Amino acid sequence: MSDQDAPERAHTDFSHSLSYGDYLQLDTLKAAHRPITGAHDEHLFIAVHHVSEVWLELIVRELRAAMTLLHGGITDTPLKMLTRVVRAQEQLTNAWEVLKTMTPADYLQFRHAFGQASGFQSASYRTVEFLLGNRRAVLLRPHEHRPDLHDPLEADLHAPSLYDLALRLLAARGLPVPREVLERDLTQPPVLNEAVLDAWLTVYRAPDTYWDLYELAEKLLDVEDNFRRWRFNHLTTVERTIGFKAGSGGTSGAGYLRAALNTVLFPELWEVRTRL
Ligand code: HEM
Repeated sequence: MSDQDAPERAHTDFSHSLSYGDYLQLDTLKAAHRPITGAHDEHLFIAVHHVSEVWLELIVRELRAAMTLLHGGITDTPLKMLTRVVRAQEQLTNAWEVLKTMTPADYLQFRHAFGQASGFQSASYRTVEFLLGNRRAVLLRPHEHRPDLHDPLEADLHAPSLYDLALRLLAARGLPVPREVLERDLTQPPVLNEAVLDAWLTVYRAPDTYWDLYELAEKLLDVEDNFRRWRFNHLTTVERTIGFKAGSGGTSGAGYLRAALNTVLFPELWEVRTRL
C-alpha cells in the first residue's frame, strides 16, 4: 500500500470518539483569543502573552514536581525536569523575537484596550519567581481579589524554594550548612552566606565525589542564566515599544525592569566561580 492514499485511510468519523480539537479543547482555547480593538497587532500581543502563559504553567508544574522529589532526597529525575524547564525558558525567550516585529505605533493602536492590566499581575510568572526564591510579600497584593490565585502564592511564599531544597540536600550529605540558613525566614530572598559558599566549593572541587549535587548546581545555574536572558529581552522589548513611560501595572516601567536585572537567585553558585 502506498503512502499516497494515506488521507483516504485516515479516521474521519468522530461522532463517537475524541477528535484532535475535542481532546485539546481548541474551541475553548480559541475563545480566549478576544482582541478588544480592530488593531492588527493586538492579535500578536494576545497570542504572545497566551503562549508565554502556557510555557509558564508548564514550568511551574515541572518545578513543583522536581521540588517534591528533591524534598525526598531524589536528585536524578529532578535533573530531567529542570532540563525541561530550561528548554521551555528558551521558548519563552524566543517569543520576544516575534513580539519585536510590533512597532510603538502599532502598539499605540490598542494600548487603551487593556487599561491597568500588566504581566506584573501574572500569577504563573509570580509563582515561578517564588519557587525560585525571588519573593516579597508585597507581590501578593495584585492577587488579593482572587483567593484561588492568592492563596497558593501565599503558601509558596512560606515554603522552601528550589534553592532551599538544594541546600538541605547539601546538609543531608554531611556538608556544613549553618542552622541560620536552614531555618531562615523563607519569605525573603536568599543572601550570600560564606559557609554555604564553602559547602559548594567542596562540591565544585570534588565533582566526582558529589556528582549529583554538582550536576544539580549546574542545572540551577542554567535556569538562572535563562531567566536573565528572558528578563533582558523583556526590558529591551519594553524600551523599544514604550520607551521610559510608566508601566500599565503602575511601576516606573523600564526602570523597574532594569532594577530586576540585578536579581540573583542562587548567589553562592555564581560566587563559587570566583573562589575556585
Ligand atoms: C510590548 C510588550 C510589552 C510591554 C510594553 C511590557 C511592559 C511591561 C512593563 C512596563 C512592566 C513593569 C510593570 C508595570 O506594568 O508597571 C512589565 C512587567 C511584566 N511583564 Fe511585560 N510587557 C510586554 C510584554 C510582555 C509579555 C509578552 C510577557 C509575557 C508573559 C510579559 C510579562 C511580564 C511580567 C511577568 C512582568 C512582571 C515582571 C516583574 O515583576 O519582575 N510582558 N511589562
